[in-house]
Amino acid sequence: MEIKLKKRGLFIVIEGIDRSGKSTQCQKIYEYLIKKNEKIEQWKYPDRNGDIGKLIDNYLKNQSEKSDQAIHLLFSADRWEKNKLLQNKLESGINIVCDRYAFSGVAYSSAKGLDLEWCKSTDSGLISPDVVIYLDLDPKEAQNRSSYGEERYEKLTFQSQVSKQFDKLKDDLWKVIDSNNNNVESTFKEIQIKIDELLKKREEEKDLEIKK
Ligand code: TYD
Ligand code: MG
Repeated sequence: MEIKLKKRGLFIVIEGIDRSGKSTQCQKIYEYLIKKNEKIEQWKYPDRNGDIGKLIDNYLKNQSEKSDQAIHLLFSADRWEKNKLLQNKLESGINIVCDRYAFSGVAYSSAKGLDLEWCKSTDSGLISPDVVIYLDLDPKEAQNRSSYGEERYEKLTFQSQVSKQFDKLKDDLWKVIDSNNNNVESTFKEIQIKIDELLKKREEEKDLEIKK
């Protein structure tokens, strides 16, 4: 008899302030898992191409105005729109590496002064990640990186506030990595250790189920 067990995909979220190097590390994680013969997709929020994402994109580019609450709800709705699809992908064994998620939603909106618990409430029930990799960067350092300042939130005082709000969200799920040295390879090495650990844990869980 052959026992076939579905491996659930890992849901890896990358968070950090603007210019902390999230997209670069997402790409590296993607390539690493491909090399390991894993099924993997790269996602990002906001999804600027979707219906809701287009409204968000306009707002971020200062082409439209929205109340703080309304834009918060749009960011949240953008995630809810894709929650079922995300669940299906993970259940079919596809790993997902996601550039920003609900933690950004809470950190950026609460940095404007909105109530932290209210900000959290609109994302309550979304799929939880297996790990939140947080690229820790001094907002002053971020300011020196390329293309900084083009969008609405890319201002030093605001990013410093966002960074403080992120600090309030850190818990056991988080792997915080100091990214101030701007060294892509050494940052990735730390991420790799965490991913290897998660892959190993998933294999062990599968073995356990076979023995049951
Ligand atoms: P960003 O990751 O910077 O997109 P890109 O890589 O295309 O520049 O995301 C856009 C901005 O949106 C960023 O400043 C963070 C902000 N944001 C929120 O305010 N709330 C959210 O829920 C998310 C996902 C992002
Ligand atoms: Mg940006």
